[in-house]
Amino acid sequence: MKPLPALELVTRLEDAEWLDPISKKVRKVVKRAIRPKWARDVLHGVPIGHPVHPLAVQVPMGAWISAAVLDALPGNDKASALLIGVGTGAAVPSAVAGFTDWTQLHPQQQRVGLVHAAANITATGLYAASLVARARGSRGGGKVLAYLGLAVVGAGGFLGGHLTYRQAAGVNHSEEIPHRFPSGWQPLAPLSELPDGKLHKIVVAEIPLLVYREGDAVSVLSDVCSHLSGPLHEGKIKGGRLQDRVNQNGGPGDGGDPCVVCPWHGSTFSLRTGEVQAGPATAKQPLFKTRTSGGMVEVCLPGAE
Ligand code: FES
Repeated sequence: MKPLPALELVTRLEDAEWLDPISKKVRKVVKRAIRPKWARDVLHGVPIGHPVHPLAVQVPMGAWISAAVLDALPGNDKASALLIGVGTGAAVPSAVAGFTDWTQLHPQQQRVGLVHAAANITATGLYAASLVARARGSRGGGKVLAYLGLAVVGAGGFLGGHLTYRQAAGVNHSEEIPHRFPSGWQPLAPLSELPDGKLHKIVVAEIPLLVYREGDAVSVLSDVCSHLSGPLHEGKIKGGRLQDRVNQNGGPGDGGDPCVVCPWHGSTFSLRTGEVQAGPATAKQPLFKTRTSGGMVEVCLPGAE
């Protein structure tokens, strides 16, 4: 099947470098506006394990589409205005979450994301204008503005789909690792050849693994950052030591959970569990079980022995 011409246009948008200076300014504003790290993590969706933005947009989209249906039928002016009001209000937190994610994307993704955001802001403005027109008694004008808003937000949604499904923004870039890694214990390297106290990359069955050794303790995660595939072995180590005793609740010891910090956007993952300690990543890193047999370290996916 032949792709729509619109797809060609959006693909060209990915290379529209003239958008970069605008992206730079918008990035600065967003980073200044949302400073606390905990707030950014909540907006990225770290606590729920996936981005908040696609979830949050359900409210304005649902309200606006429902209003469009009611506007097509007689006698629903009040209900329709109420739904448009709800959708317009709900668009704000959804945009804040989207902009927070957008600041941590590749330039090609940011170009498409910028136009996606511009379309959605324009649509929100049209819906606000529709409310004003309705309040002034112009029912016809209010409906036209709302339908225009729906058309523009639809175009914005097309760009959002491209950003997520073609450009893989917001998806888990480590998801396929457990499907590709062979089952059973696989040889990693002799323990004596693993550098002590340093992040190290070893490829097993064509899968790049992040290896971190402290004495006899070895931690192995997927080396591909779940956020946007950054190489974790080029990152930094942070927190306590692997061999620190865990506390009574099974949590990190006094020195804190030993973590790796991604060199690209600073996502932080526990070397003990692979869990996200700080975003923008929202999905944990696949963690491998390790054992040493005859001086050789072996790795295996949990449950795949
Ligand atoms: S690639 Fe973005 S934090 Fe790792």
